[in-house]
Amino acid sequence: MSFWEKLEKPIFALAPLSGVTDSPFRRICREFGADVVYSELASTTALAHNPRTTLELLRFDESERPYVAQLFGYNPEYFAKAARLVTEVLRPDGIDINFGCPVPKVIRQGAGASLMSNLPQAREVISAVIENTHLPVSIKTRIKSKEIEISAFLEYMAGLDIKALMLHGRTLTQRFSGPIDIEKTREARRHFSGILLANGGATNAANGIELLQQTGADGVGVARGALGRPWIFREMKALLNGGPRQPIAPADIFRVALKHAKMAEELKGRRGMLEMRKHLCWYIQSVPDAGKIRKQLAGVNNLGDIQEILDSIELP
Ligand SMILES: Cc1cc2nc3c(=O)[nH]c(=O)nc-3n(C[C@H](O)[C@H](O)[C@H](O)COP(=O)(O)O)c2cc1C
Repeated sequence: MSFWEKLEKPIFALAPLSGVTDSPFRRICREFGADVVYSELASTTALAHNPRTTLELLRFDESERPYVAQLFGYNPEYFAKAARLVTEVLRPDGIDINFGCPVPKVIRQGAGASLMSNLPQAREVISAVIENTHLPVSIKTRIKSKEIEISAFLEYMAGLDIKALMLHGRTLTQRFSGPIDIEKTREARRHFSGILLANGGATNAANGIELLQQTGADGVGVARGALGRPWIFREMKALLNGGPRQPIAPADIFRVALKHAKMAEELKGRRGMLEMRKHLCWYIQSVPDAGKIRKQLAGVNNLGDIQEILDSIELP
C-alpha cells in the first residue's frame, strides 16, 4: 500500500506553487496540519542533463514527509532519467507529474497543460516514470486542455498505476481565475479509482471545505489560500470537526513569520531573505492595520530587520 492510501481522509494537501512551496514553507504548512506537501515544479530536462541546481530545489527535510516531488517536461526519456535520479538521490515519498502549467515557456516545450492535450505522449511520460521508480506516482491536471477533457484523459490512461490525481477545476483557457467546475471534478471520480484531490478556489477554510463536500473528492489541494496563511490547514480541520473557529492572534502570526524567516535564512542565506520579503507581505495581510508596514517588510535584509519592524507594531 502506498502512503497515499494510508493517509486519513479527507486529505488536506499543500498544492505546488512555483517560487513559494520551498522547504521552509512546506515545513510550516506541515506543522499547521497539511497532510502532504508538494514541491515546486522541477524541470526533467535540467535533471536529465545538469541536475545539480534542480536537485537542490527539490531537497527537503525529513519533517516534511509525506513529501511529493513534482516534475515537468515533455520527453519520456528525460522523465525516466529524472525519476531514477530523484528516487535514488532524494528519496521523496512520491513523484508527481505536471499536466497543468499554462505558462507560455512551459507550453511552448509541449510540457505542462500542453502535455495533457497530447494523449499518446502523456501516456508514454507516465509509463516512463512508473517504470523508473518504486515510489507512488501521481499526476496534476486541469479539467480541460485544448479539446481534451479530464474524463477522456483518464480513460486514455486506464491501466496505468496512477495513485493520486490533483485536479485543478479550471480549463487551460481560464488559467488561474474564474469558477471551478464542480461537475467535471465529480465526473473525474467515475473515471479514476485512485486518490482524488480537488483543487482551485480554496481561498479560505470555508471555501476549502465547500470544495471538498461539493466535489465528493478524497481531499483538497490548497495553493494560493495558504499564502501568508499556512494555518488554513488547521482551520479546515477545525471547521470539518465542527470545532469553534479560533482566529489566529497577530502575535502568533509574527511568531510564524519569524520562524519561517529563520528557516529561510538558514537554508538559503541572503537569497532566502530576499524570497522571504513576499511571504512577509502576505503574512501581514492577516494583521489588522498592519498595511503601513508592508513597504518596510518588502525591503528587509536580515532577521534583525524583521524583528525590529514586527516589534514596532503595537498589538491590541
Ligand atoms: C504563482 C503560482 C505558481 C504555481 N506553480 C505551480 C507548480 O509549480 N506546479 C503546479 O502543478 N501548479 C502550480 N500552480 C497551480 C496551483 O498549484 C493551483 O493548481 C492553482 O493555483 C489553483 O489553486 P488555488 O485556487 O488554490 O490557488 C501555480 C499557481 C500559481 C498561482
